[in-house]
Amino acid sequence: MDKNYYITTPIYYPSAKPHMGHAYSSIIADFFARFKRIQGFKVFYLTGTDEHGQKIERAAKEKNKDTLTFCDEISQTFKDLTKKLNLSNNDFIRTTEDRHKKSATNIWKILEKKGEIYLSKYSGWYSVSDEAFYSEDEIENINGNNQSIVSGSPVEWVEEESYFFRLSKWQDPLLEFYSKNKNFILPSSRKNEVISFVKGGLKDLSVSRKSFKWGIPVPSNSDHVMYVWLDALTNYLSALNYPDEDNQMYKDFWPADLHIIGKDILRFHTVYWPAFLLAAGIKPPKRVYGHGWILSGDQKMSKSKGNILDPLEIIQSYGLDPLRYYLIKEVSFGNDGNISEEKLENCINSDLANNYGNLCQRVISFCEKNTNLEVSKKIDFIDNDKKILSVYEKNFDKILSFVDKQDINSYINFLVDQLFAANKYFNDEEPWKKKSDIVRLNTIIYTSLELIRKVTILLYPIIPETSLKVLKIFGTEEKDLKFQSIIEHNYIRKGFKIKKIGILFKKIEKK
Ligand code: MSP
Repeated sequence: MDKNYYITTPIYYPSAKPHMGHAYSSIIADFFARFKRIQGFKVFYLTGTDEHGQKIERAAKEKNKDTLTFCDEISQTFKDLTKKLNLSNNDFIRTTEDRHKKSATNIWKILEKKGEIYLSKYSGWYSVSDEAFYSEDEIENINGNNQSIVSGSPVEWVEEESYFFRLSKWQDPLLEFYSKNKNFILPSSRKNEVISFVKGGLKDLSVSRKSFKWGIPVPSNSDHVMYVWLDALTNYLSALNYPDEDNQMYKDFWPADLHIIGKDILRFHTVYWPAFLLAAGIKPPKRVYGHGWILSGDQKMSKSKGNILDPLEIIQSYGLDPLRYYLIKEVSFGNDGNISEEKLENCINSDLANNYGNLCQRVISFCEKNTNLEVSKKIDFIDNDKKILSVYEKNFDKILSFVDKQDINSYINFLVDQLFAANKYFNDEEPWKKKSDIVRLNTIIYTSLELIRKVTILLYPIIPETSLKVLKIFGTEEKDLKFQSIIEHNYIRKGFKIKKIGILFKKIEKK
């Protein structure tokens, strides 16, 4: 079985500092990366910044900065965010790096050599903000301004010499590819959207621009720079040292297992990207998951609306793990969701403080008072204990399939149910009434500690910092973490002295 796993985020435009939408894509990808690692996979998790094109060039000009200096500065804020979000990415790629230029140039050369690219003239609409070409029927005029119907971004008329990629030729092969790879596009609602777009007919795609210079030069004609999306998408290969197809990184990790993206960039990843790859004779990725937007109130975040949510402010006030937990649990994955302080506070209080935090606190303090934190050597499981412990082996395959179907909500619902079940077990067993039956008392403590350990492993991809803090009390370090161990019921060593734990999540007092 292939035990390698390659997961990516979109590479972000460093046109302004990162916001909650960027944080969301990255946290989601981090969930999968961390889970697959503890499942025993060798994981490569890639993120980075998309630095070419008119959007970036104009943003730099607005700030009166040299374009690369501007990119250096903002790209650094995205890099800093990877630390602030506790992302476990293995690499951070910038499209202005030589390794990427080399890879994108190579793709171009192959496409040109294969006759997939030809020189002509583009006249039509272009949105710099989306870096996208739009046809007449994708445009509307609102108060005298032309804009994209879908994104609402302003468009401008462009007429210039341009290279074209023979996208039209790939219409049928793409449809065949989707039908053979049923789960290439998820969620399925988005798949239908893409298939009907492709069935509607594909026109050749303009893949170079001549009216500005901020991009990777077309190898055979330096009057042109490559269209920023052809350049950007190739980043997923560049990080594996493409074009060296014999190197181990490429062999291990291509084709990518999962591109996590927002629904706004679905067409680029599920139509253009596989078409470029098929045309170049390279295998397309295995899956693209298009998640929804994080709305600010009920609107998309934008500079012009002044409603940008800053992840750093939320982290400062509430901490990182609560934010990660909220985004993963409270947003129905695949759909739009929003975040408000009230909802975040409710979630911290009910799930993290009352449910998880309380479970850890009460079991460990009971253990401290009654056994001086020592795990007894004599444990005798009865049916009640075995029943609750066995939930994990019964659901083992199901949990794996939730992850492999990107059904994050079912994953977390299972986990929350287990938190309730563990709290209920401790209540119902009433260990405080078992002081005369020391074996029973110790067995209830042991079972409860095992339940904490198991559920904490499931929490690891969501709230890694807290989870590791809790696992440490049992002597488990990150490097020893194994998903498989949730089905072991005698994992905690008998006679082991567990450590005390402080308050994990403070309840937020309502004003
Ligand atoms: N540079 C391109 C991607 C190239 S990938 C080869 C791009 N960059 S972006 O910075 O504008 O947005 C990248 C991603 O950020 C979006 O696809 C989406 O994943 C995420 N989000 C940006 N705004 C968002 C929300 N409001 N909500 C959730 N995610 C959104 O597109």
